[in-house]
Amino acid sequence: MKSCWIAVVGRKGGSGKTALALGLAAHYARKGARVLLVDLDPQGSASLALASDATGERLAELLDKPTEPEMVPNVTFFESPALGLLAGGPALECMTAPRPLREALAGLPMDVVLMDCPPGHAALDRLALQAADVVLAACEPHRLGIAGAARVLDETHALQPHPRCALVLGRLDERRGLDRAAPNLLAGAFAVPVMAVRQDSALAEALNSGRLPPASGRAAADLGAVAGWIDGQT
Ligand SMILES: Nc1ncnc2c1ncn2[C@@H]1O[C@H](COP(=O)(O)OP(=O)(O)O)[C@@H](O)[C@H]1O
Ligand SMILES: [Mg+2]
Repeated sequence: MKSCWIAVVGRKGGSGKTALALGLAAHYARKGARVLLVDLDPQGSASLALASDATGERLAELLDKPTEPEMVPNVTFFESPALGLLAGGPALECMTAPRPLREALAGLPMDVVLMDCPPGHAALDRLALQAADVVLAACEPHRLGIAGAARVLDETHALQPHPRCALVLGRLDERRGLDRAAPNLLAGAFAVPVMAVRQDSALAEALNSGRLPPASGRAAADLGAVAGWIDGQT
């Protein structure tokens, strides 16, 4: 199986990027894939959600300094389902000239690499976009968030060769008419697939108590649909 690098990118905070990255990581890990989550967020949200040490030092060091070719990056592994994590944190802010992610992580045999990007950090976003086979532009289903996601899609399209991309609306509230209408309206406006992860309190609870997103329920079904689209592209 060729590895698949997936970047979850968005300009605004709180739009469900980390939930999407962790949800997809859990989905693929439960299917038995070797999954690595690269937390590119100086806030280290994905790492904190997995109750990991969120300094970002190991990842920053890997990206900042050329390592020996035989040196395999040191990754934290979680069990059940098995999942690798390169934790994010404040050390990512201090990098000077980070080298490409694929080069830095070349020693790791992985099936799926998920890159969780921070809100509004162009340099870290670029690092993920340049490594990605698939870009998921994540935003909430509201006008201002969508404007930020549109910029991410433009930047992705400007890359050569450009990764496949989709818009993923996070925390979609089915009780609101505007939210329900958003996927169809946006599918007409953007030339990319539009998917959504519906609001699911079990997902929020899991992330707030150091557990992986649940394997069943509303969000799990939506995350499975996003993974199905990704699998069809790679
Ligand atoms: N589909 C969802 N259903 C319920 N809560 C969600 C969902 N997606 C995200 N959340 C919650 O919303 C908050 C922000 O989500 P997060 O994924 O951290 O956003 P971002 O990474 O874009 O800043 C978190 O508390 C998270 O648990
Ligand atoms: Mg986040």
